[in-house]
Amino acid sequence: MVWRIAILRLNKFLAQAGVASRREADRLIQDGRVKINGRVVTELGVKIDEFRDRIEVDHHPVKLPSEQIYLLLNKPAGYIVTLDDPQGRKTVMDLLPRLPVRVFPVGRLDAETEGLLLFTNDGELAHRLIHPRYEIKKLYEVRVKGFVEDKDLDRLQKGVFIDGRKSAPARARIIYRNREKSLISLEIHEGRKHEVRKMLSALGFEVKKLRRVSFAGITVKGLRRGFWRRLKPEEVARLRKMTGLAD
Ligand code: URA
Repeated sequence: MVWRIAILRLNKFLAQAGVASRREADRLIQDGRVKINGRVVTELGVKIDEFRDRIEVDHHPVKLPSEQIYLLLNKPAGYIVTLDDPQGRKTVMDLLPRLPVRVFPVGRLDAETEGLLLFTNDGELAHRLIHPRYEIKKLYEVRVKGFVEDKDLDRLQKGVFIDGRKSAPARARIIYRNREKSLISLEIHEGRKHEVRKMLSALGFEVKKLRRVSFAGITVKGLRRGFWRRLKPEEVARLRKMTGLAD
């Protein structure tokens, strides 16, 4: 259990509760959508007591989670990243333990992608980890059909056009290659949808297997596929530091 100070700024409270980023929360406040103890507040910088004050956004009460939870899952292929699937398909939530509070995935992986996926109820940290501004590094192992040449690596590193926009500089190296298949390691810091598959496809390669091996320097090493673990306090501290949330 982490004890928190009860008095904090309203925008920080809203961000920690996962309602919005601090800046978006300021906008909600200015737009008159936030109430403290039944009264609309529109000035910024107001402080609240999270245990005594009653906060509402658009008439819905907002509460901070009673405990902050950070989990890492080694996602197997075939599970979709969603909280709930109306079609009843297997979701990543099926692989997590029963928890006292609801946690959310930090970003997404395609159903067929394996590897590291974080979950938390810390909305503010999650928001920052997926925001392009913090350039959080994601390391993938990509198995493709065919021989990846050095010039292909070079193009991946410099950026290739996907959906009309060039991918940001990346790091790519060969782990193994032969005429039939290649295994490459690719580190990117953007988080565009299907980015790795599209980068390889732009060079004419079909991705056969995709696995995220690390995120923000945290690795999935030693954790069996389909299993989860809690993040260590020092890992959480590092994530907070990287995203400017260290106290
Ligand atoms: N890039 C992809 O194409 N898919 C993923 O699941 C993750 C990154």
